[in-house]
Parts: sequence; structure tokens; C-alpha cells
Amino acid sequence: MQEIAFVDSGIGGLPYLSALREKLPQAPIIYVADNKNFPYGSKDETQIRKGMLELVASILKRYNPSLLVVACNTASVVALETLRSNFSVPFVGIVPAVKPAAIASKTRSIGVLATERTIKGDYLEALITKYANDCRVTKVAASELISLIEKDPFIEDPLAFKRLFEEARVSFERQSVDTVVLGCTHFLHVAKEFEQYFANRFTIMDSRDGVVNQTLRIIESLGLMQGYESILESDHTAKQLFLSKEVVNSSLYQRVASRYGLSFGGII
Ligand code: DGL
Repeated sequence: MQEIAFVDSGIGGLPYLSALREKLPQAPIIYVADNKNFPYGSKDETQIRKGMLELVASILKRYNPSLLVVACNTASVVALETLRSNFSVPFVGIVPAVKPAAIASKTRSIGVLATERTIKGDYLEALITKYANDCRVTKVAASELISLIEKDPFIEDPLAFKRLFEEARVSFERQSVDTVVLGCTHFLHVAKEFEQYFANRFTIMDSRDGVVNQTLRIIESLGLMQGYESILESDHTAKQLFLSKEVVNSSLYQRVASRYGLSFGGII
């Protein structure tokens, strides 16, 4: 059975994979963390497109996925069109949830927390013009927080997180923001902590529902839904996490993989 493939620069896409699993618990899944190119957020657009083309080509050499979820805002806003014009496999991308945030905001002041590349890019600007034209939008690049999540997804250094959450909170409060868009998939690893620090101050938005719904629509249109739905636990379909570059110590990735019900597959 064809796998559903997920890619991100690191572990950021895993909470999206979890959200899909709630609908299709046994579907065969492969997840690729492009650790060779992490972080995407500090790269220019040409580097990101080139890296994504190489990454997808290496996945397609080994697998024949039914679709590929680019579980990364930065890669999606920069490279999705390039990927679609180079490969025939269907892609699902992720864009910052500016539209629902603009609908929800009462103060007409929204915040976007994302990578430097997403914050500076034309795509986000176009989303804001289209959906949040009457809102003030405070854009905060949170590169340090993203690197910390990649390094410490089990939050073993809570004080380091606290400092970075506080920084973001202050930037948003200064502008009377009432709704914050988590515009980088990594943040979903610390969604609970965001809720805790930002509680009663901001409504938090992410794109999980939209991505899952779009993925299910494509699966349905490919005629694969019934097959995926009828897989049993005993069928032992592929559920693996791969890296794009060897690491000296893979124990962190192994722990993360097992938290998400995946086995660690080494290098793709
Ligand atoms: N997880 C990625 C995103 O959603 C990017 C993290 C990075 O590599 O900078 O934008």
C-alpha cells in the first residue's frame, strides 16, 4: 500500500502527522526530517527550493507515496509551486492561519510567529493583504525558539523556553494583539506551553485542521480512503521516521519517533 509522506526541516511536522492519525490511525506513513538543511528559516529562497527538490527526489527514489505533505510553513510558502511543477505526486502545503486569525480578532490586531524567511517573504504579505487588510499585523521571527524546540522537544530546559515565550508575549502585547498565529510547525510541539504562557491573553491559531482536511480530500479523490480506513493494527504498515543526514547520536530522534508511534529508519 502506498505511504503518506511527510517532510519538514526537522521534527516540526510531527504534530501534523498526529492530527492525521486521529482520522486514519493505521495508514502507512513515512516522515522525513531534513536535518541536513535545518533550519530552513535562515536560508534564502533559492537554497530552500533546491534543498526541497533534492529531498523530494530522494524520497521518490525509494518510495511511491500517494501524496506528500510539506509539513513546514517555510518550505510551503517558498517551494510548493516549484515542487508541483517538477513532480507529479500530489502535495499538501501549510500556510500560516492568517485568515481564521483575522476573522477571530476583536482588537483587529493579530500576531504571526514564524521563521525569519516566512516573516520576510512575499507570500505572508499577500496573505495579509488578502485576508487581514483591516488588521494590524505584528510579525515576530522566532528562530531561537525553533532551534530550541528541535534540540529539546521534551522541554528538559523549561527556563530557556520561558524566556523565549516571554519575549514573544511582550512583542504582541505591546501592539494589543488578541490572536496569535503559530506560523511554524515546530511550535505545535509546545502548544500546551503556549497555552499556559499566553492563557487569557491571546487566542492561538494553527493550520492543523485545514491540512488534515485537505489531505483527506486528496486521499478520497485518489480512491484510497477505504483502503487506508480498513488497515488493521496487525497489518504492520510502514511507520518510519528518516533523516537526510547522519547524526553522531540518533537517540533524540529515536525518542521523538517513538513518541509519535514511528520507528527510526536512519537516512533516507
Ligand atoms: N518547521 C518549519 C516551518 O514550519 C521551519 C523551521 C526551520 O527549519 O527554520 O516553517
